[in-house]
Amino acid sequence: MNQEVVASAPGKFVILGEHAVVYGKPAISVAIDRRFTVSVKKGSVNSMNGETTEFRANPHIKYILNNHPKNPITLTTDSKIPASSGLGSSAALSVAFSAAMKKLYGESCDLESVAKEAFDAEYYVQNSGSPMDTSTSAFGAGVGLNIPHEMDNFLWKIQKKDFSWDVSKITVPKMSFVIGYTGIRVPTGPLVEKVRKYRARNKFASDIVDEIGNVTLDGVEALKTNDVVKLGNLMTYNHKLLSILGVSCNELNKLVDASLPYSYGAKLTGAGGGGSMVALTDKPELVSKAIAARGGTPFTISTGVEGLKVSEQ
Ligand code: PMV
Repeated sequence: MNQEVVASAPGKFVILGEHAVVYGKPAISVAIDRRFTVSVKKGSVNSMNGETTEFRANPHIKYILNNHPKNPITLTTDSKIPASSGLGSSAALSVAFSAAMKKLYGESCDLESVAKEAFDAEYYVQNSGSPMDTSTSAFGAGVGLNIPHEMDNFLWKIQKKDFSWDVSKITVPKMSFVIGYTGIRVPTGPLVEKVRKYRARNKFASDIVDEIGNVTLDGVEALKTNDVVKLGNLMTYNHKLLSILGVSCNELNKLVDASLPYSYGAKLTGAGGGGSMVALTDKPELVSKAIAARGGTPFTISTGVEGLKVSEQ
């Protein structure tokens, strides 16, 4: 029988700390109830969703494929995460596909080895990056990077070039977040590169990156005490810092501004330049309406979401 492996992994949004996390600063990220599902079996030619392909347009898949036996595969994908939207769709694809390939070839599918292979794929494609998205997608729920934590919450650790990340579980109290998608698809790599160049040549930009790290540490305290007012203020401040780094845009600012009257705070999430924003609110319907009125696509998300799931059929 031709074994088929089905794996799925969630997208994410970032409460605080994107971009700065690339330089080893703290970040907090949360899995969302939108998943990327892949199904993989051995085939006679490589194919994706019924089309023969060598995956040249899918560098994450190609990278992971190269780590495994060179047999052709039949891959089917189904994603509920808009692509290039700041919601971690490529990380979710990489996590699900890595796990499916490992399972297909009888390798260990433990979350750490999947998170590592998926991060390596992201790092290779973006030429930089942090393990934030791939860790959140693999482990689910809430994840902190380089934040103080108990030994019990430790998940895994990794170093690339000059930076290292200590990844831990974080408890996110029940809070209501609304995502607003601008509809503008922006790949992550060029935005990460823009911040890298700015930070490398400008002390002011490097101070802003450090300040995002400090804001995130304050946010960890706000989460511990379930202080939504403080957390919301920190999110809005984080948005301003990201704007100074040059990764916001008019459409994101419009959706953030529209949400603020009904929110504790709001910010862009992910790489920026388009993609999505997120608001912390106890009036999700009003925020959703305000986002839609400004041309964004709102969706209310549930947190506490399971990470990677793998099954054989
Ligand atoms: O836009 P996304 O979902 O790819 O998130 C990117 C997050 C960054 O911090 C900008 C990059 C990274 O690798 O952490």
